[in-house]
Amino acid sequence: MKPSSATAPVVEIRRATKRFRTPEGQTVHALAGIDLSVNPNEFVTLLGPSGCGKTTLLRTISGFEALDDGSIHIQGRAMNHIPPHSRPVNTVFQNYALFPHLSVGDNVGYGLAVRKVPRREREMRVGEALEMVGMNGMQQRSPGQLSGGQQQRVALARAIVNRPALLLLDEPLSALDRHLRQTMQRELKSLQSELGIAFVFVTHDQEEALTMSDRIVVLNGGHIQQEGSPSEIYNRPVNTFVAEFIGESNRFQGMLEPFDGQFSRLRLEDGDTLTLMSPASGAADALHVMLRPEQFCVHKPTEAAEEYASLCGRLAQKAFVGRDMEITLETASGRPIKAALRGHDSRTLAERNVGDEVTLWYATSAPHVIAA
Ligand SMILES: Nc1ncnc2c1ncn2[C@@H]1O[C@H](COP(=O)(O)OP(=O)(O)OP(=O)(O)O)[C@@H](O)[C@H]1O
Ligand SMILES: [Mg+2]
Repeated sequence: MKPSSATAPVVEIRRATKRFRTPEGQTVHALAGIDLSVNPNEFVTLLGPSGCGKTTLLRTISGFEALDDGSIHIQGRAMNHIPPHSRPVNTVFQNYALFPHLSVGDNVGYGLAVRKVPRREREMRVGEALEMVGMNGMQQRSPGQLSGGQQQRVALARAIVNRPALLLLDEPLSALDRHLRQTMQRELKSLQSELGIAFVFVTHDQEEALTMSDRIVVLNGGHIQQEGSPSEIYNRPVNTFVAEFIGESNRFQGMLEPFDGQFSRLRLEDGDTLTLMSPASGAADALHVMLRPEQFCVHKPTEAAEEYASLCGRLAQKAFVGRDMEITLETASGRPIKAALRGHDSRTLAERNVGDEVTLWYATSAPHVIAA
């Protein structure tokens, strides 16, 4: 049965491949076989290090770059031979890219004018779009008379004025200062749900990705490493790249000892032991295990106390960063352990000095086994 248009993906990318020949004579695999679907009204974020292929992927969706192999369908239509201006897609760039000699109103209405939309309708839609981004009454100004944040709002209004099926946003907030950026993050998110348009958003900023996205796609070297909800990506990274790239983590590597009926123990190379509650699969295998800094505590909980295990060491560093006390503990073997502590734990540590012995507790259900 054919899926209804309400639930069919807005974009379907299959085995997208893009290679570039560099002037130095090398071949860069910017996209190495990407499969990705974006659903109606979904906020998907592409996250990954510089050069991993984020912009290239957006440019192939918008049509500014042709695929070497694979296919892109938008609303069920094959796009491979459709030029950029005929695709139901708009892009918002980091540097706004407004026409400096046109007024705000004319910038927003430019695409409609090109499509010969009658003047009255154009004015109405420009007014609506500017209202949606909170820029009412600024039609007459030129871009040079606006702040960076205001220019980005105009660029957004221009991108949504013709109601595309899909909006591509390439680091749209990275030129803004932290405070304005956070305001714009909230506004962008509510604008997206108001419009019901699917967004594919690119950012370097993992916090931004975690707070804004329905789904995060982590890329590296032109490959998708993992896709999933922010909490899946953060709590259950599938490989060490994702575990290290998203958030702070402590990674342990060791040999798993046989399950003793209650716990599995991971014997680390340096003699330390990590205790896991459930029998991790692949006993006697070398395993990678992750613990996030916020998964430690200083005061062992009294409830279900038997489910907690500890690591001991000397306090090597401590810094109060507002809500958390961030510390580094150094175990006897010299292994650094990062922990972020709050409340009672944070106050206790405030009274400890660098060099003091500290015990950190963790729930034995907390260590996450990384497959690869
Ligand atoms: N026109 C081009 N010619 C040659 N190589 C290119 C070209 N465009 C991109 N590349 C290469 O393709 C790879 C992917 O580039 P892309 O711009 O997609 O990365 P990105 O993830 O957007 O990075 P950033 O976060 O720095 O913006 C990089 O190695 C880049 O150098
Ligand atoms: Mg880029």
